Amino acid sequence: MGYPHPTHPKETPVLSRHFGDSDARSFDGWKRRGGYASLEKALGMSREQVTEEVKTSGLRGRGGAGFPCGLKWTFMPKQRTQPHYLCVNADESEPGTFKDREIMRWTPHAVIEGAAIAAYAIQAEQTYVYIRGEFTEAIAIMQQALDEAYIKGVLGINAMGKGVRIDMTIHRGAGAYICGEETALMNSIEGKRGNPRIRPPFPAASGLFGCPTTINNVETLAAVPPIIEQGGAWYRAICLSNPNSTGTKLFSVCGTVRSPGTYEVAMGFPLKDLVHDLAGGMRPGRRLKAVIPGGSSVPILTADEAEATLLDYEGCVARGTMLGSGGVIVMDDSVDMVYQIMRLARFYAHESCAQCTQCREGTAWTTKILQRILHGQGKLEDLDLLLDLSEQMTGTTICVLSDSCAAPVVSGIRKFRDEFEAYIDSGRAVAQV
Ligand SMILES: Cc1cc2nc3c(=O)[nH]c(=O)nc-3n(C[C@H](O)[C@H](O)[C@H](O)COP(=O)(O)O)c2cc1C
Repeated sequence: MGYPHPTHPKETPVLSRHFGDSDARSFDGWKRRGGYASLEKALGMSREQVTEEVKTSGLRGRGGAGFPCGLKWTFMPKQRTQPHYLCVNADESEPGTFKDREIMRWTPHAVIEGAAIAAYAIQAEQTYVYIRGEFTEAIAIMQQALDEAYIKGVLGINAMGKGVRIDMTIHRGAGAYICGEETALMNSIEGKRGNPRIRPPFPAASGLFGCPTTINNVETLAAVPPIIEQGGAWYRAICLSNPNSTGTKLFSVCGTVRSPGTYEVAMGFPLKDLVHDLAGGMRPGRRLKAVIPGGSSVPILTADEAEATLLDYEGCVARGTMLGSGGVIVMDDSVDMVYQIMRLARFYAHESCAQCTQCREGTAWTTKILQRILHGQGKLEDLDLLLDLSEQMTGTTICVLSDSCAAPVVSGIRKFRDEFEAYIDSGRAVAQV
């Protein structure tokens, strides 16, 4: 179960430095690489000091929203009058995103160590690692690592012999995209239907089982041990562009590149270098046409925009898109944009929990209209109808799933309108829709 993971000179491997090295998966192998020293160090610090170090690092959530991690931890009550919980979000169902499963596959102890440090900081005696059910390999690896961590006394009622209780349990999801949304995830752990909850109350006030809860992404938590080991200031200094986007980020690059894969670079890295250099660029004779930089839920960039984008939170916003989860979907000039946008809309229609009318109806009708266009039966007015629908699907629902459907549709019509009009004008239909 190993493959070579040669690191490109332009990469900054912090989280991925042991990818491809199966020895790092075992407890002893992880210890040999300095593993669990950060947890030991953290348990010797006050909870506030640990949180302060993470705040200093500037680490922002890698699950998509980019919320400052240390700040989120401070929202948990200082006095523990009820159980506190930590949820590790390992659902990773966003199309184009496949970095969390790589972290779990190669360095499961990094996730456990980061989660244990976070659990200590927020006084959570129980942590749930919510892993998407289809990730059978990652689940097996994580379970084995958890078992080892218990046997070695790293976890349990007296974690590392320091008199602190840190328990951790894997909870398998069942493959619903919506269960990656943090409040749906908590409902799912509680055994309920995975519907997002209305906020407030926010999870830090009333989350899992009605108790104070913090939810963090796998990559966010895996970054915590190096921060504790080397200091927040060290992490903050890893920055190529904007000081509000610090550290490294894993980008999963897929689509029409020659070397799809997961690459770790410093925040602010040029998107064009990621696509053309690290991921090998386009196949012979092909030109870059479009890039979705942050997983399928963010606006599409044209080739020109992509060539000018810096990969950090601000750099993406400056180009009218978002960094999101870092799932970079690359499309060359052989790609049919209308068809690809329909496929994304169909995904969101399938995954909508159907609680909110705008999402349930909006994602379904968006898909139907796009299919109508692809069948050669579209009208020019359909484009305005799609834009109107998308507007009503944005900012009007409990969670942002319907916004996520609207983003590629709106940007797709605005930037690649000629392709939509070509279907409508010619009445041409694609073979399979
Ligand atoms: C529909 C939907 C799906 C989501 N899926 C995931 C996911 O698979 N993994 C993840 O970490 N965050 C996902 N999120 C974001 C989470 O709600 C949450 O912001 C995140 O887990 C917080 O962790 P972070 O602050 O460490 O990024 C999703 C959000 C939405 C609206």
